[in-house]
Amino acid sequence: MCGIVAAVGSDNVLPILLEGLKRLEYRGYDSAGVALIEAPGRLGRAREVGKVAALERLLASAPLTGLAGVAHTRWATHGQPSQDNAHPHVSGRVAVVHNGIIENHLVLKNELVAEGYAFTSETDTEVVAHLIERELQRRGDLLAAVEAAVARLEGAYALGVIDADRPDRVIGARHGSPLVVGIGEEGYYLGSDPLALLPVTDRFLYLEDGDLVEATRTGCVVHGWCGNGKRTPVVREPMRYEHDDPSVGKGEFEHYMLKEIYEQPVAVANALEGRLGSDQVLIEAFGPRARQLLGETRQIHLVACGTSYHAGLVARYWIEELAGIPCQVEVASEYRYRDVVAPPGTLLMTLSQSGETADTLAALRHARARQGQAYVGALSICNVPGSSLVRESDLSLMTHAGPEIGVASTKAFTTQLTALMLVTLGLRQLHGGDGELTARLVHRLRYLPTLLGDALKLDAEIARIAQRFSGYRHTLFLGRGAQMPIAQEGALKLKEISYIHAEAYAAGELKHGPLALIDASMPVVALAPMDGLLDKLKSNLQEVRARGGRLLVFADPESGLEAADGMTVVNVPACCRFLAPLVYTLPLQLLAYHVAVARSTDVDQPRNLAKSVTVE
Ligand code: M6R
Repeated sequence: MCGIVAAVGSDNVLPILLEGLKRLEYRGYDSAGVALIEAPGRLGRAREVGKVAALERLLASAPLTGLAGVAHTRWATHGQPSQDNAHPHVSGRVAVVHNGIIENHLVLKNELVAEGYAFTSETDTEVVAHLIERELQRRGDLLAAVEAAVARLEGAYALGVIDADRPDRVIGARHGSPLVVGIGEEGYYLGSDPLALLPVTDRFLYLEDGDLVEATRTGCVVHGWCGNGKRTPVVREPMRYEHDDPSVGKGEFEHYMLKEIYEQPVAVANALEGRLGSDQVLIEAFGPRARQLLGETRQIHLVACGTSYHAGLVARYWIEELAGIPCQVEVASEYRYRDVVAPPGTLLMTLSQSGETADTLAALRHARARQGQAYVGALSICNVPGSSLVRESDLSLMTHAGPEIGVASTKAFTTQLTALMLVTLGLRQLHGGDGELTARLVHRLRYLPTLLGDALKLDAEIARIAQRFSGYRHTLFLGRGAQMPIAQEGALKLKEISYIHAEAYAAGELKHGPLALIDASMPVVALAPMDGLLDKLKSNLQEVRARGGRLLVFADPESGLEAADGMTVVNVPACCRFLAPLVYTLPLQLLAYHVAVARSTDVDQPRNLAKSVTVE
């Protein structure tokens, strides 16, 4: 992960770099640093452990100024968070920031050590700084030096590079990690994400893998592969950033996560907009190739990570029941290394909020390389237009959640589920499912934003329950059918932001082992909508109660479940069983949120995590 920013302008670029870092903190926040060319031949550098605010404090006491600079916020992969390991890394006149992983760094390090280079960090990145410095000595030109250096790198990287002798320019390189060029009035900028640069521009060039860019105050030249194994200047069309700037603040909310939980009714309405007809989904609105791809689909491989994976697990229930199409769901980090068998007619579906998750991207590439012929195509469901996943897929359905800042995914998840329900209904229409149920579900989808709004009204009740809950050390989440992945998502939310150990089980699995854990110190959270499995679930809840377990049940008002000694029941708005996974998600998000607040954790930026996992 990590976030990088670079700038070359007509004024001191330090404020732009620092603001960019703050906006990229979602990518990592264990240390941060900047390097500026203070005068020709003189590099100034500041690095600090902790968040960007700590770096700002350091710079307040020892300011730096310069017209060109690079900056970095880190999520440690090689070497613990420390000042020495923080970027930028410097070698001679060269300062480098890097996002990604250099897989052959040990080989390169041995080579450079043998030539006399001294290493001061445990990072993989430092080899890049020394390699560029060595090539700069040989070639005398920074762009040529970066080109020669990256030719030696294996792995993934986005780089920002400056040369102290050339205060008029910065160089960027992209291979497997995101990098955009911001076109400003007063300068040119590089960033891991347009978000970093919105205060200075809304015009961006999206670099492609293999691109190098040389930026000055007044322009930039992108050098891309031209087919004969050489780079040549290429045109990357500028694109305008169309969204509102999400960093305008948290508004009335204490945390971005809570704001994003509350945005879900509107986000889901946006995900539905323009895609529902009177009693069908509008397949053409999914994109030009949608009808053909979905029509030719005979089975689906659904691949994703984390929360997005849980959305895929829910969709399997929908796709198999409503469209009659076999669907297998797998975490991308496994799929990418497996000898996957894809029978002819397989649709590869990837799910990703960011569209930059390294494992998900690699799974897509792996599938194409292995069994290109068998796949009818690749469909991605994604929240970030222009992301790598979107660009590499045959068809993309955007979730329109709007930027999500909290590391814990909330509105991205429910909008993914919404998009997945639309795809399910599209498949149903094309594969002969009866129209009556389709029409009923289309009508219910229209009502979904209202239902989600009703679910949010449970906030105060859940906040009270969370006070009690925050004292526990372990939790079990139970669900059946399509609520099983929601139990998994609830457990992930809780552990991610409150650091309480939480596990999820299909309720029917309880007696096959986990029941041994149950006692008064082990609360069990269960999901009990009105569906054909409710009676089975009730039996499972009895098994817990009989062993003194403490139950918190989110239940349909008609479920017949009532509060009793050791059992708290929260009534969730009544809803149809197909949409219940979305509705029951919200109380679990709120529970995790309020428990985390009660435990005073860093809700928006939980320890050890980052929002966008662009390294393996
Ligand atoms: O951007 P993606 O959806 O591909 O991210 C996948 C996971 O890293 C992500 O969902 C992660 O699990 C969330 N932070 C959990 O809240």
